[in-house]
Amino acid sequence: MTINQQIKPFYFDITDDEIQYFLSESEKILRSGKLILGEHTTAFEQAFAEYVGTKYAIAVNSGSSGLEIILRLKKVEGTTVLVPTNTNFATIAMVIRAGGKVQYLDMDEQTFAPSLAMVKEAVEVGRGLVTKPLQKISGVLWVHIGGVISPEFPQVVEYCHQQGLFVLEDTAHAHGSKINGVSAGNLGDGAAFSFFPTKVMTTCEGGMITLNNEEEDYIARSLRNQGKRGMDFGGLHTDFGNSMRITEINALLGRIHLAKLPEMLNKRQRAYELITAPLKEASLSFVSTEKMDIASNYKLIVHLPEGKNAKEVKTALAEEGIFLGGTVYEIPCHQQPVFQGICEGQNFPIAERWCPNHICPPLTSGMTETDAQRVGEALVRHLK
Ligand SMILES: Cc1ncc(COP(=O)(O)O)c(C=O)c1O
Repeated sequence: MTINQQIKPFYFDITDDEIQYFLSESEKILRSGKLILGEHTTAFEQAFAEYVGTKYAIAVNSGSSGLEIILRLKKVEGTTVLVPTNTNFATIAMVIRAGGKVQYLDMDEQTFAPSLAMVKEAVEVGRGLVTKPLQKISGVLWVHIGGVISPEFPQVVEYCHQQGLFVLEDTAHAHGSKINGVSAGNLGDGAAFSFFPTKVMTTCEGGMITLNNEEEDYIARSLRNQGKRGMDFGGLHTDFGNSMRITEINALLGRIHLAKLPEMLNKRQRAYELITAPLKEASLSFVSTEKMDIASNYKLIVHLPEGKNAKEVKTALAEEGIFLGGTVYEIPCHQQPVFQGICEGQNFPIAERWCPNHICPPLTSGMTETDAQRVGEALVRHLK
């Protein structure tokens, strides 16, 4: 097997021309001495808000920082937030960092996100209609796992608003994902994107908050800048913020990647279609994005048929030169040692069933059509 026959799970999509442009613009940044909160940050924020369709976008140094800020905007301290157990560490950790209490939600195997019924049940339990009252529920922090927007999500937002609850979106996987004409990041009451290197677009490290409320935009800018309101470098600290600013260099890279995001998403969609065509023919099950207008295709989630073992399938594929990245997620948060004691005694059977029993084949904007076909055919051979 030669190196160029390998199909890898991640691809940093950047051309020679883009690298040259990045270098020359970086030089200007360095020579200007304006390393943070400058023209690239502002231009990146404006372009991102326009892309998502929100009034405001606030660039930060990570998706985690973005989540903490939007949770603080909603004043979750001392309240309970409903969060899927099937998510990244950061989603849960940021609720805790913002002073909130976590109530996990199980997931639906068709979307890997919770269902509307699960949200309703948790809200009713929380209201004390059933036997175990929780602390007051303030809202939901939803995660579009793999970039998949559940077709039920707009109803979740509608239901929560009727109940006086907020809905925040963890859009770390969902750059460009769209349903019913509305983009992820503009479907609820605030969102946080991640630009971690494995994501659909990257700034090396970084994140973006999207919002529609002017006052929240003002406070979010303060929270990312040590709690300084309305000024960049002054000495008055009004809010309990932190140093969560993005650098100008990261923002420059973000502008380059955002400009090519539609093209990268088209390539990922083509790969998704070529990989899933043989899966459908073989009646193998995967999480479908068909109800969406656009899918980020951050991850293609393939259910393992009964009797198949994730580790064995991954090893067999690697022997053919097809390398799989991480899943979403192998271990649900309620089973993570660091979160021991949260929702103790409760069961989340669907997450427990599917978290260890799915795989995410490589799906990148760097794959050729032949690569994608090869992945689809190999999956059928190893899963059937
Ligand atoms: C669902 C989810 N939320 C939040 C984050 C945190 O993003 P970051 O690593 O940029 O802090 C990640 C990152 O992997 C994620 O996958």
